[in-house]
Amino acid sequence: MLSYKEHKALKDRFETQLRVAMNKTDFMTGWLPKSATPGASAEHFAPSNIALCKYWGKRDTELNLPVNGSLSVSLDHLGSRTRVEPIDGETDSVWLNGTQQRPDSRFAKRVSAFIDLFRIYHPEQAFRVTTENNIPTAAGLASSASGFAALTKAMNDAFKLELSDTELSVMARMGSGSACRSLFDGFVEWQMGVREDGMDSYALPLEQCWPGLCVGLIHVDENEKSVDSRAGMQRTKETAHLYQSWPMQAAADLSKLQQAIAERDFALLGSVAEQNALSMHATMIASWPPLLYWQPDSVAAMQKIWKLRAEGLALYFTMDAGPNLKLLFEDASRGAVEAQFPGLEVVQPFGI
Ligand code: DP6
Repeated sequence: MLSYKEHKALKDRFETQLRVAMNKTDFMTGWLPKSATPGASAEHFAPSNIALCKYWGKRDTELNLPVNGSLSVSLDHLGSRTRVEPIDGETDSVWLNGTQQRPDSRFAKRVSAFIDLFRIYHPEQAFRVTTENNIPTAAGLASSASGFAALTKAMNDAFKLELSDTELSVMARMGSGSACRSLFDGFVEWQMGVREDGMDSYALPLEQCWPGLCVGLIHVDENEKSVDSRAGMQRTKETAHLYQSWPMQAAADLSKLQQAIAERDFALLGSVAEQNALSMHATMIASWPPLLYWQPDSVAAMQKIWKLRAEGLALYFTMDAGPNLKLLFEDASRGAVEAQFPGLEVVQPFGI
């Protein structure tokens, strides 16, 4: 256990470092206490999250600093459980859902690069990292957010760093931007921040909850995308003229969502989330080469939702950089929605 003085010294080092460093490794050097020992094994869970106002575009690709703030809801028990164990040897051993990943795979490389941030004083220390996702594969949900959030918490314990939730959120952001929101349950806002060092770019949980809010996961296609979110948002920012309007729209949507949550106004929440997602996709389609993540079944599901809504069902959707839709509705409509979408995986992040 660090004393208050030691913890304060660690925090001061962290803040000073953030003020001067822009490069990931520089950023970490001097932050970790020299005495940090990678002695322990550790295991943590973090939930997956669905953004209602999307993070799309970075102002700094090294530190994953966003162009806009975003707001998500965490998916309760659906997420990733990650265990880290110090091991002998030269390379990390990375396992995902029971299968060892090739060291040159995209997943293993991202995990090892992230662990590098923690082992600046112990460059030779390798880890075995075991991640289990309980998100149904069929839901086609990205798990990098929950995976990096769980890994951040596990590394914090393994090195006995005792970072605060805010510091953990800053760290998780360096692994994957959306991971900074998966540190928390319920509604979570990622404040974009304005500082070059990213010290003010982290997520915070909102106080409000919304019993009865439902998220339904529709499966359209579970194949790995040829262009992932990271590459997709970069291409969009660099090539789509339409992207110029995105930061303003996202800022307006974020405040409307805050209002919808404060007033528990479902029509406002659903309509803003759906329009935000479609606007993000419009910028993707307008990029070059064009990025269209939709499959014919995605469009069919959208049209079905619009028809049901016109008939009076309070049902909206959002979607990320992929073909799968996430339905938004309230518990009172659950029976009607499930009848229309048999086999729907439903999560109630705040219970009934
Ligand atoms: C469309 O967090 O996966 O899901 O920071 O490059 O790792 P990196 O990107 P990532 O992007 C997520 C984009 C999104 C929207 C969102 O979750 O806010």
